Amino acid sequence: MERVTETMISTDEIRQAVVRLGKQITEDYGGSEIVVVGILKGAFVFLADLVREISCPMILDFMQVSSYGTGTVSSGNVKIKKDLDYDIAGKDVLIVEDIIDSGVTMQCLKRELYARNPKSIKVCAAFDKPSRRKVDFVADYIGIEVPDEFIVGYGLDYAGKYRNLPDVCVLEVDGGDK
Ligand code: IMP
Ligand code: MG
Repeated sequence: MERVTETMISTDEIRQAVVRLGKQITEDYGGSEIVVVGILKGAFVFLADLVREISCPMILDFMQVSSYGTGTVSSGNVKIKKDLDYDIAGKDVLIVEDIIDSGVTMQCLKRELYARNPKSIKVCAAFDKPSRRKVDFVADYIGIEVPDEFIVGYGLDYAGKYRNLPDVCVLEVDGGDK
């Protein structure tokens, strides 16, 4: 069985990070229109908070993806469960993700979306676990860096649960396979 233990990141800390990111993104894009792509399901809480702190004109879209695993990343395949509704050719795209772990999903997704000829692609993640990287991936905007612990809440799940927790908590699993 699993159990949610201590709070790692409070709602106040998350709020501060979101406000900072929103300001930075608004400044960086100036008045240009962006296509914000929320990655389902984990990013839904962060996305809702973040977009309300960004004052650029935007079109909001969603994708649901999973990476094919980490063995041979050179081909960069990502399985698309739900694709974009909008054409991103010539657009400035901002991908909004919950957490970057190995980096494989975002590396693959960026490659996939670049093939559609956008003007630019940047990635904004609420949380980042740089110590877990398996590929060389750096996000453009990071809310909060976290240590190598499995975390839940603020949209992040374990087996579909705990996404509704307002703060971020560490999850402990007996017998350990997360
Ligand atoms: P990556 O391809 O290894 O970077 O995978 C990132 C994805 O793994 C995220 O979008 C999450 O769905 C999931 N993930 C990674 N670490 C955690 C965690 O600590 N809690 C919940 N989900 C996580
Ligand atoms: Mg997940």
